[in-house]
Amino acid sequence: MSESTMGKQVFLNEKLIPIEKAMVSVTDRGFMFGDGVYEVMPFYAHRGFRLEAHVERLLRSLAAVRIPSPYSQEQWLSHIIAFSQQHEESEQSIYVQVTRGPAAIRNHAFPAVMHPTVYMMSEPLTPPDNKGQHGVAAITATDFRWLRCDIKSISLLANVLLRQYALDCGVSEALLIRDGYLTEGAASNIFIVKNGMLYTPPINHLVLAGVTYEIVLELARTHHIPIGVRAICQEELFTADEVWLTSSTKEIVAITELDQKPIGQGKPGPVFTRMYELYQTFKQTVLYQGE
Ligand code: PDD
Repeated sequence: MSESTMGKQVFLNEKLIPIEKAMVSVTDRGFMFGDGVYEVMPFYAHRGFRLEAHVERLLRSLAAVRIPSPYSQEQWLSHIIAFSQQHEESEQSIYVQVTRGPAAIRNHAFPAVMHPTVYMMSEPLTPPDNKGQHGVAAITATDFRWLRCDIKSISLLANVLLRQYALDCGVSEALLIRDGYLTEGAASNIFIVKNGMLYTPPINHLVLAGVTYEIVLELARTHHIPIGVRAICQEELFTADEVWLTSSTKEIVAITELDQKPIGQGKPGPVFTRMYELYQTFKQTVLYQGE
């Protein structure tokens, strides 16, 4: 454990404890089977950004994997907010994980009685500080994940391998292709721009319903940027004028190189720059005036 994390308070089953003392049982099904779900929630200026949407998605993930939610939506919100207030950093990424809890014997089937384990930690949130001026490189990869990518499951082995493949190739993200079509990034949603029009794949069981994705669509509608939510085939990625990724921790980032080929002019495009500014303005408005 690094010195910087020593003594950091985490939330484990309603107790606040230093991270080095936080222990879960080896019989916990999160450890045994990757049997659990999670959320990553950004806090700016000590306030949760779209917190309700994250909690709603957490409740949807829990329901989808049939883990009884230990808390109501209101209780989740108050636990998460109270936990964030334990940390002095104004910009945090709050990680929430719920597993199916401990089970006396190792059996794939659920235990008769479930006692879900709830864990939360706060990490510093450092969105890209280049003011959207620099893009990143990415690589395409076969999407070999399961067929329920709408669930924010802690079983992330495929995502882990895909992200590491991207890093091993010296790029920031893997854009996932299933049966010739773009699904999403290994830890992000993807948008493309062609002739001034913004396109993104629809949300279904193969894609996570990103909170940032939803904000970008809302901003596009409000500010009359034409959008098309439709399937995007692999070839379109290479002929796009712009490609972007979105996530709660990275916000919106331009992808300016894909499979070692430049996208458009090889730098963040005009639609990206506009959306980046709209997003920053929206963030400030929400945080200081409410939605
Ligand atoms: N991941 N798709 C996948 C597979 C993701 O893992 C994420 C985010 C997103 C974007 O969702 P949102 O805009 O709600 O953050 C899409 C988080 C940040 C993570 O796993 O750390």
